[in-house]
Amino acid sequence: MTTTLIVLAHPDARSFNGVWADATQTACEGLGDTVLRSDLVSMGFDPVERASHYPHLTSDTGFDALKAQENSAALNCLPTDVEAEIEKLRRADRVVFHFPIWWFAPPAILKGWFDRVLAHGALHSVDQRFDAGQFRSKKALFCVTTGSKESESAFDGKEGDIQMLLWPAAYTLRYLGFSVAVPEIIHGVHGYNRGKRQEELEDRLAMALDAQVGIMTDFASRPVIPFNADSDFDANGRLQVDRPNHSYFIRKAP
Ligand SMILES: Cc1cc2nc3c(=O)[nH]c(=O)nc-3n(C[C@H](O)[C@H](O)[C@H](O)COP(=O)(O)O)c2cc1C
Repeated sequence: MTTTLIVLAHPDARSFNGVWADATQTACEGLGDTVLRSDLVSMGFDPVERASHYPHLTSDTGFDALKAQENSAALNCLPTDVEAEIEKLRRADRVVFHFPIWWFAPPAILKGWFDRVLAHGALHSVDQRFDAGQFRSKKALFCVTTGSKESESAFDGKEGDIQMLLWPAAYTLRYLGFSVAVPEIIHGVHGYNRGKRQEELEDRLAMALDAQVGIMTDFASRPVIPFNADSDFDANGRLQVDRPNHSYFIRKAP
């Protein structure tokens, strides 16, 4: 049986993102999945990594987040909210993230969830990352809304290429070993339309909700974002000249 974790990074369950996450849950339940949820805002998830999460550690030498995570993982005493999220990630076969673009990036609460939950020593280490990541049997999908139009989010659009805006979050998951499906993006989602334009938007969003059953049904065969293999890099961690580059984030010499 498949277990799907849905992570929602939006403050309002009645927003389109909230309703879209519910559509994902309904679709997965229809497929017989076990569904786990992390609605980060309504859970009150604290996205700020800091010393107070680690009262058992002495802070004589200041707060080193990587060491705090590593030591706590070794002692089996990571913060309980982090442990709960790690448990969900370990159980999940697939993870679907629902979020809007806020200031050219996912909302800060999702970045904070990455900062705290993807704990060093628990979910990754120098020996367990990228091709050797713990989660290499798992696949993730970003379901994303933008306020901007599709044309404005294109590779030459004035809002910046949405594929590049999502790349750091996708690469975070790739670091843990995940395959990351090509994102599902719905553009032009905002409350400023009136009249016919508002009706058109509502029709488009209703169609997107209906399409979620197909998206989750075809999840396994959905194409993935290409990333370089570990062997594409030289001993200094630089892309070898005869290897492909898949993103402007890791590119060949001009
Ligand atoms: C703080 C904030 C920043 C935003 N920044 C962007 C942005 O950089 N690019 C964009 O296309 N839309 C931006 N938007 C618009 C949101 O993407 C849009 O409101 C959201 O996708 C609508 O989905 P919802 O109805 O589920 O909230 C921003 C909205 C907020 C509240």
